[in-house]
Amino acid sequence: MSVPVIAIDGPSGSGKGAVSQAIACRLGWHYMDSGAVYRVLGHLARDRQVNLEDIGQLLDLIQCLDIAFTDGEVLLKGIVVEDVIRTEQAGKAASIVAQIPQVREKLLVWQRDQARMPGLVAEGRDMASVVFPNADCKIFLTASVEERAKRRFKQLKDKGFDVTLSALSRTIDERDERDRNRAASPLKAVDDALILDTSDLEVEEVVATILKEADRCRGT
Ligand code: DC
Repeated sequence: MSVPVIAIDGPSGSGKGAVSQAIACRLGWHYMDSGAVYRVLGHLARDRQVNLEDIGQLLDLIQCLDIAFTDGEVLLKGIVVEDVIRTEQAGKAASIVAQIPQVREKLLVWQRDQARMPGLVAEGRDMASVVFPNADCKIFLTASVEERAKRRFKQLKDKGFDVTLSALSRTIDERDERDRNRAASPLKAVDDALILDTSDLEVEEVVATILKEADRCRGT
């Protein structure tokens, strides 16, 4: 029997994280934040002074990646790494290493392995297009750049980071540009995805809409 998967894609700040975690929790399913995996790799590469374009060394780093998700937090070798991977620097490094096809290929197997019973909620940029093309339910979240920058600003401020709204808007723009225009698995909505603009919606409203869509998909 195949494992049911809800694939949720979208750009940074579209609300994927909060929404995906809430859905996984509500359904009692597993949760995978694929962006966190690229962030861990970007962070490790920076930490070990590996050139972000050195494919051989990046593949070696992937070889010893030991990542787990517990209670909404990312663990690397059993240690919570939320603080170091959520910085804008780690996000930028993630977006750079994520452009490399060999890196994506190597992380594909690991990501697919996360699909376990009773089900998986997977969030990222290419969950529906590449990693889980047969997902039962495919969602693409969007929001205006202003709203996304405001959300990210609040998240980072709450974590104690020193950031400005204008600098954040700029980095979000840059990152979107790279994620949308890269050759390998660019960020895009697949034809059979439900597209939701979350700019004026509360997390709970988005969760309710997706759960309804998941029910509809299951019934078809
Ligand atoms: O969702 P996020 O901001 O944590 O993702 C960080 C970066 O990782 C993002 O700029 C693009 C990359 N990414 C990707 O290429 N493919 C995914 N499935 C998830 C993230």
